[in-house]
Amino acid sequence: MSVSLTINGAARHLDVEPRTTLLDALRDEMRLTGTHVGCEHGVCGACTILVDGEPVRSCLIFAVQAEGLAITTIEGLAPAPGELSVVQDAFCEMHGMQCGFCTPGMILTAHALLKGNPNPTREEIVTAISANICRCTGYGQIIEAIQLAAQRLAGSNMPEGSL
Ligand code: FES
Ligand code: FES
Repeated sequence: MSVSLTINGAARHLDVEPRTTLLDALRDEMRLTGTHVGCEHGVCGACTILVDGEPVRSCLIFAVQAEGLAITTIEGLAPAPGELSVVQDAFCEMHGMQCGFCTPGMILTAHALLKGNPNPTREEIVTAISANICRCTGYGQIIEAIQLAAQRLAGSNMPEGSL
């Protein structure tokens, strides 16, 4: 079946079997392997992408259901080659990752949170990432990274030498 959608700002066309998940289409057809495969039944959040700006588990929808939708994967967040988004940069600075398996899903979830709520409380951050499992249990640093990203997006707590 043919599917037309937007992936990271570019119009794309896929030919997939009806049973193909969006997760498999992104990884196997588009070679966007930053979207990770974890439980494959909607529990871990490793496969999180943004669909029209909202976090979605790509293992739970078929590629054909993405007809006409705008998909953002971790590969689409950086403003330019060799650069990082503010959230990605904050995760690096605060050590918001260990093995990195949960990281793309966490970062995309954080992007969606901060877009809708630029100044979240710690509790709101915890709630936002509560459906994403970090097997390394690095939740403390992940929360601190999202807090730093919120500050940076608001123009405060900027890195030394950036002003
Ligand atoms: S791989 Fe999709 S939620 Fe775990
Ligand atoms: S950093 Fe290893 S699973 Fe989260």
